[in-house]
Amino acid sequence: MLRLASETDPSWADANADHVPYLLIEQAHLEKKAASAALGYMFRYPDHVFLQGPLSELAREELEHFELVLQKLEDRGIEFVRQKPAPYAARLLEVVRGPQPDKLLDQMLCNAAVEARSCERMLLLSRGLRGRDDDVAELYHGLVGSEARHYELYVDLAKRIFDPDVVEARMVEVMRHEADVIATAPRAPGLHNRA
Ligand SMILES: [Fe+2]
Ligand SMILES: [Fe+2]
Repeated sequence: MLRLASETDPSWADANADHVPYLLIEQAHLEKKAASAALGYMFRYPDHVFLQGPLSELAREELEHFELVLQKLEDRGIEFVRQKPAPYAARLLEVVRGPQPDKLLDQMLCNAAVEARSCERMLLLSRGLRGRDDDVAELYHGLVGSEARHYELYVDLAKRIFDPDVVEARMVEVMRHEADVIATAPRAPGLHNRA
């Protein structure tokens, strides 16, 4: 179960359904960033040896998603161009406390929150695009399950480093912050914006 503190209205997907090329380019960037985030932990925290295997697998899976979306862009003749990132991720990370080990806990919970929100919204897109663009609806549908697993992995790994009760309590705060960030996001197309 995703522990998001707010629910996206399904009308959000309808408003985004007219922006499939934009969404696909964004999705490719997001998958690449997700892989990079996992690799980042592996390099920054080599002493937590048990992070290495699962996060390597996660990074590989995100790169597979990246390649899948890249192929979709190519099939449709859409150029994989740079995009100005949505403010979501930077604003979300404002909740991260400076000193260790709090920093690591907060960062992992932010990654969990991103995976959870992405999962929720990709599911809405897969439903909203049915009958309008079944091919892309299917693509999103195929990605949803992994994002839910990635969310759980970040939470589970955090609970191996920190007291599970501490993780649970902090998760409530991070998810509340996430809900505030998403509720005040710009009105623009994109996975982490407001419709
Ligand atoms: Fe992914
Ligand atoms: Fe993911």
